[in-house]
Amino acid sequence: SGAGKTPFGAIRRPRQSPAPGPRANLCTETQVTPSDEGAGMSEALANLLNETRQFPPPAELAANANVTGETYAAANADRLAFWEQQAQRLTWTKRWDRVLDWSKPPFARWFVGGQLNVAYNCVDRHVEAGRGDRVAIHWEGEPGDTRTITYAELQKLTCQAANALTELGVTAGDRVAIYLPMVPEAVVAMLACARIGATHSVVFGGFSADALTNRIQDAAAKVVVTADGGYRRGRPSALKPTVDEAVSNCPSVEHVLVVRRTGEECSWSAKDRWWHETVGRASVEHQATAFDSEHPLFILYTSGTTARPKGILHTTGGYLTQASYTMHGVFDLKPDTDVYWCTADVGWVTGHSYIVYGPLSNGATQVMYEGTPDTPHRGRFWELVDRYRVTILYTAPTLIRTMMKWGEEIPAGFDLSSLRLLGSVGEPINPEAWMWYRQHVGGGQLPIVDTWWQTETGAIMISPLPGVTHTKPGSAMTPLPGINGDVVDDQGQPVPNGGGGYLVLREPWPSMLRTIWGDDNRFVETYWSRFGAGAGVGDDWVYFAGDGAKKDDDGHIWLLGRVDDVMLVSGHNISTTEVESALVSHPSVAEAAVVGATDPTTGQAIVAFAIPRGSAETEGTAGAQLITDLRDHVARTLGPIAKPRQIMLVPELPKTRSGKIMRRLLRDVAENRSLGDVTTLQDSSVMELIATGMGAGT
Ligand code: WT7
Repeated sequence: SGAGKTPFGAIRRPRQSPAPGPRANLCTETQVTPSDEGAGMSEALANLLNETRQFPPPAELAANANVTGETYAAANADRLAFWEQQAQRLTWTKRWDRVLDWSKPPFARWFVGGQLNVAYNCVDRHVEAGRGDRVAIHWEGEPGDTRTITYAELQKLTCQAANALTELGVTAGDRVAIYLPMVPEAVVAMLACARIGATHSVVFGGFSADALTNRIQDAAAKVVVTADGGYRRGRPSALKPTVDEAVSNCPSVEHVLVVRRTGEECSWSAKDRWWHETVGRASVEHQATAFDSEHPLFILYTSGTTARPKGILHTTGGYLTQASYTMHGVFDLKPDTDVYWCTADVGWVTGHSYIVYGPLSNGATQVMYEGTPDTPHRGRFWELVDRYRVTILYTAPTLIRTMMKWGEEIPAGFDLSSLRLLGSVGEPINPEAWMWYRQHVGGGQLPIVDTWWQTETGAIMISPLPGVTHTKPGSAMTPLPGINGDVVDDQGQPVPNGGGGYLVLREPWPSMLRTIWGDDNRFVETYWSRFGAGAGVGDDWVYFAGDGAKKDDDGHIWLLGRVDDVMLVSGHNISTTEVESALVSHPSVAEAAVVGATDPTTGQAIVAFAIPRGSAETEGTAGAQLITDLRDHVARTLGPIAKPRQIMLVPELPKTRSGKIMRRLLRDVAENRSLGDVTTLQDSSVMELIATGMGAGT
């Protein structure tokens, strides 16, 4: 169609009308005749293609929603006034003089001149308002031990930790690295840093000594907070030896504060202090002082699978404003009655914004779980939902697909009737997984908020509003009120409805990253130099998110994965996500990963890795037949150009610790290259299984 060079051509899926419109095709050039429409089409495939299917919000939720539909227009009419109003949800000790300073783009300053304390906003003010007895955290360890922490207790713990850090010489502006399992001390340590103005850098507890070393060194952290270990898959898993190794290469570190979790032996050095001694004997009184709105709150390193990690810097007032507002609006949180559970780890941004700062600033009661979803059994998550009467659940597509693979009888064995709202984050959710989530977790009724955002955006940017939006399975729908997002082509021009291209954000938002720690140039280069003023086009600065996206006929946004995950096959741009969704829509497939492998004739060829569902026959000729069926299925669904050259049936897929499929490794397998560094893999044995060609297909 010559619609300019975009990573994704115009993509249209059929409406439910009887008119023989074009079938879902990845490229305008590829028209597929709807020869077998209807009859042989499985229900699953019908769901994937039936894109006009929309689910209105439940009437009761809509009638009582925290945020209503008028908000979009109000925010549009005066964006800065809208955000100013949201900032007033927080307690400031000094009001700002200016909402936004954008005089030196792309460096933004929000609520300029304002002052507040983040920990006070997350804890003390709830206690002062008489809600000290409310449970802040229902914590559950993997082995089944529990702790119940009220806001009053959280206040004492935070004050003690703040006093202890101060005693260890930490002052405002110093960096503190936090390398902990999912224990309450992780939340307390983050809040204690915020309380004294120290900048925390949480490093996911699954990272290697090298990764930890790099992150400590990059931020020159003065103190490391860690634990002897945590529980993973039914066993204690040590952390302290990794810290010992890292700290030996990090001269900036003066003290290591060690939480005792497993009680296993660990080696001890002069820098080490036990948390329960140092924090335990500290005073429970601490006077919080207010910090400037732009005071650095935390650094979080992006989980890049290849390049040098980037220290994403977030600051105080704008970050908390947006984390807090989105918690209130997107999750419709009613702090008096809801029990919220986000299954992420605090080591990721999801844990920062939607376990710590978003929920606590709103006075929420939440569940926090240490362990894995299948220890000691595959119903563990549903058991927790059942036990704590969870009303709002926020999890990731990779988990939903895992649950699909394990089978719907597992959630069916628990009482999930307390749930009223479901959320998804982390990667595009396939329509099939979305439907499964709604059906088997949401009882066929609950609204799903598919929330698009990034470590860099700090808080949710594109998502349905649960009391307003008529959701579509697989679409994140529209930018939130006060957010200006768009899909543009290679030239930065907005694509029309039905078109595909790059996701961009057009105006600064309160919780945006302020820079990459210590590297302003890389910040400008990475995010602001692809389109707009930073690319020498026009006066407006445009943020490049690195994601491919399309607008459907109604202008709703569908995320298609990172733009590095686009394949170029015989001159056609094809998104890995769409081929994966097509595969997962087949009843015999639980999960799929797709990569482009170098191909002498087509440039790139599509290679797919598929995990069969429990019941599917995969041995011998049945396996070969399944592979043939799957290739045909993809061709029928998306067009012949998208037919995979090769499909391998595999038992598992390699994932980063944050659950992202490591396509780079799969590409190496597809091209028979050596595997390189697999240390960030969840389970490196997966790669061996794949490389030894279990079920390698045509
Ligand atoms: C990337 C950011 C944001 C918290 C967890 C990930 C992908 C995230 C969605 C979604 C489609 C999504 C994007 C984004 N992503 N949410 N709802 N639909 N894709 O944070 O590690 O910084 O990754 O995750 O590709 O750019 P992150």
